Formats: sequence, C-alpha cells, structure tokens
Amino acid sequence: MAGLGTVGGGLLKLIERQAELRLPGKLEVVAVSARNKNRNRGVDISKFRWADDPMELATAPDIDVIVELIGGSDGPAKRTVEAALRSGKSVVSANKALIAEHGIEIAALAEKHEAHLLFEAAVAGAIPIVRAVKNSLSGVIVSRVSGILNGTCNYILSEMLRTGAAYETVLAEAQRLGYAESDPFLDVSGGDAAHKVLILAAIAFGAQPAFDQVQVEGIDKIEAMDITLANKFDYRIKLVAEAFRANGSARCRVAPVLVSKEHPLAQVNGPLNAVVVEGEPVGRLTFTGPGAGSGPTAAAVMGDLARLFEGPATPPLGKPSRDLAPIITKADSATDQGSFFIGAKLADKPGMFAALTEELAEAGVSIDKLIQESAGDTGAAPVAIMTHPCPRAAVERALSRVAELKITADEPRLLRIETRA
Ligand SMILES: NC(=O)c1ccc[n+]([C@@H]2O[C@H](COP(=O)([O-])OP(=O)(O)OC[C@H]3O[C@@H](n4cnc5c(N)ncnc54)[C@H](OP(=O)(O)O)[C@@H]3O)[C@@H](O)[C@H]2O)c1
Repeated sequence: MAGLGTVGGGLLKLIERQAELRLPGKLEVVAVSARNKNRNRGVDISKFRWADDPMELATAPDIDVIVELIGGSDGPAKRTVEAALRSGKSVVSANKALIAEHGIEIAALAEKHEAHLLFEAAVAGAIPIVRAVKNSLSGVIVSRVSGILNGTCNYILSEMLRTGAAYETVLAEAQRLGYAESDPFLDVSGGDAAHKVLILAAIAFGAQPAFDQVQVEGIDKIEAMDITLANKFDYRIKLVAEAFRANGSARCRVAPVLVSKEHPLAQVNGPLNAVVVEGEPVGRLTFTGPGAGSGPTAAAVMGDLARLFEGPATPPLGKPSRDLAPIITKADSATDQGSFFIGAKLADKPGMFAALTEELAEAGVSIDKLIQESAGDTGAAPVAIMTHPCPRAAVERALSRVAELKITADEPRLLRIETRA
C-alpha cells in the first residue's frame, strides 16, 4: 500500500475486518509506504514492512499488487504505478488525476504487461460506476453520462440554498467539517469533476481521455442570490459534469447548471454524488451514493481488490487502448444553443433595468421569465432572467455590452438551463 491517508487509513481498517467481507480469497498487507512513518493512522502499522520510497514496493518480488493511494497526476504516484505495471504487478488506485491525465499511456502499459489496472474509487467514491459502465453496461450504446461528481461543490451549493449564506462563508464551514480540503481549488474550480467525467466518457464512448478538451467552469463565482432566485423559478443550481455524443465526436463539460426541481439531479443534496447513464436500449439509469470519504472510498478500493481474484486482466478503459478513438473534442461555445440564466445586481441608477433588457433584445435574446428584487439599503438590486432558447453567443454579446455600459454592480453570471426533464 502506497499512501496511508484518508483512503489508505480507511482501507487498512477494512482489511482488518476482512473476515466479515465476501472476498473470494485472502488479502495480506506485505508492506506500506507514506511520508511519515510515525504518524498515528488509527491502525497498527508496525506489523507491516515499511518503505520510505513507494518505488521499493513496485519492484519487490514478494508483492503481487500495489494499491496506490498517494494522489496527484505526476510525481511518486505515477512513478510507482508505472514501475509496478512494468514489473507485471496489478495496480489498484483511487487516483482520478492520474487516470484522466495519463490514462492512455498507463492503460497501454498495463495491457502490455497483462497487469490489472483498476480504479473504481477514482470516480464517485462508493458508487460502483466504473465497473458498471465498463462491464455491466457494455451492452448499452451510451449516449450521455452526467452527474454530480464532486461532493464538496454539492455540499456548498446545497448549504447556500438552505442557509442563504455567501459562498465564502459556506466554504469555510465545509472546510471546518472536513467536506472541503484546506486547498479547495481542484474541487471548486470543477477540475476534480472534470477528471472523473473524462474517465467515464473514455470508458462509455471508447474514447481516448483528453483532459485539455474538457470544458470546465467551477462554482466560485456563484452568488447566494443566484441560488435563491433560481429556487424562485423552481430550479436548483448544481455543478453538473456531463459527457455526450455530438456529431461523431464526444464532448465533456463541467459547469454550474440550472436543473428543474423535478430533475433526478435536483434531489441529490449535501456531499452525495449521483451519476445518470443514458443509452439504447435501456433508457436512463441513475446511481446515487456517497462520493468520497475514508470508508466509502476504501470500500470501492476493496471491490477492485476482490476483482483481482476473478481472473486475468482486461483493458483498463474497456476497449484496448490502441482502439480508443480521439473523439473527445471541445466544441466552439459560439455554437451552443439553449436557454440561459443570468444573475446580476443592477447598479443603483435610474434606467438600469430597461438598459439591461434593451441590450438583450438588441442581441436577439428573448426573456422567458424575470425577477427583480428590491435593492433595500444595499444599493444594488438583484435580478435574475431566464431566456428562451437562443445562441449562447448572443447572450454573451449582450453581457459584454452590459459590462461596457456599467449597468450592473457585479459581473453577471451566465448559466445554462437544463431543459431535458
Ligand atoms: N479522500 C477521499 O475522499 C477520496 C475519494 C476518492 C478518491 N480519492 C483519491 O485517493 C487518493 C488518496 O487520497 P487521500 O484523500 O487519502 O489523500 P491523503 O489523505 O492526502 O493521503 C495521501 C497519502 O499519501 C502519502 N504520500 C504523499 N506523498 C508521498 C510520497 N512521496 N511517498 C509516499 N507516500 C506519500 C501521504 O503520507 P503521509 O500520511 O505520511 O503524509 C498520505 O498517507 C487520491 O488520488 C485522491 O484523489 C480520495
């Protein structure tokens, strides 16, 4: 085991309860590695051989399997995984950054050495979605995979709705409760959800993972007023990660999106994750559950370890890596069509509301619904608009004029509205 932190510690505890699990054989921890040998991990590790450098485990002749729980797309995690695969050892990892950013080379290495490379825990924690898409649903022509894949963001957005508090306040509370890292950038920027949806897209569409082709937008610009006013329109704001087929290519994107209160993703609150798989001939399948945390993630790692008893390795991304197609491509957002939500605070000057609606009309954007609230003593009036279907580029054009004219007291938020039920 390389890495004995949140997930590694959880796995050690689960291995101690092996007799209660339903494994086809027995697992034995031979050696462990982390940075600090003396850190209390809540489990006695003195009975295991210690390695200061995880690379020692990757080549040790008495080890069959490396469990990589260090994290990071490069550095010791990548070196250890590559060395283990080169030695013909199986690898189980929870490392979404590594698989999303180097999946194709690492999968090819595993295939060459006929080694298992399993990473169920990398996507949606305890939800068994990697194996479901790769194996159980291999008889489905998948058209779309979407979901809530970052529990930190979902917790923050849910709490902003529940309490009406500002993003920064809720983020600080999430950090205090352990739902957010001390450096939350990868979560709130959408990068973590992008890693996960890209892995699902690669498997579901037989596509080469291409991280630079994922369109990513985080939740850090969302204001409490956006969430409150979206709620008045009967919508929730969720960080939606989705991958779908589009004209022979596949698109992956992560962004805060308005979903109607009836949508399956609207009901998923707090740190939970959810994944919706759509395809022929099954229609829609929805999976929900804890997407992170020591126990749930360790349980997913354990499921992969159990798989090792079942027989020879299969290609890590479903299809052999040489057959994966380079089809994940960014679409030009100018071609995006849809209905959009605009949230902003109007500057406290006469005629600002008329000026905003005039700019939208000028750009050919027609308003479906709108709410304007009193400025009270804040000096800026919250306004929310839902547009009829139109090109995104038209809304962007109107908003750049709005910025030039200094109509708003803040930078308006432009969010897509999911109109599919
Ligand atoms: N936490 C979750 O809920 C969750 C969920 C899904 C997937 N994951 C993934 O699981 C992996 C582990 O996450 P985590 O939350 O358990 O991380 P973590 O708590 O930060 O633990 C990382 C572990 O790696 C060790 N480590 C760091 N650099 C090392 C090095 N150079 N050599 C040897 N050991 C090193 C650390 O050692 P020390 O303990 O001595 O510092 C620590 O034990 C990541 O890929 C993460 O994305 C995590």
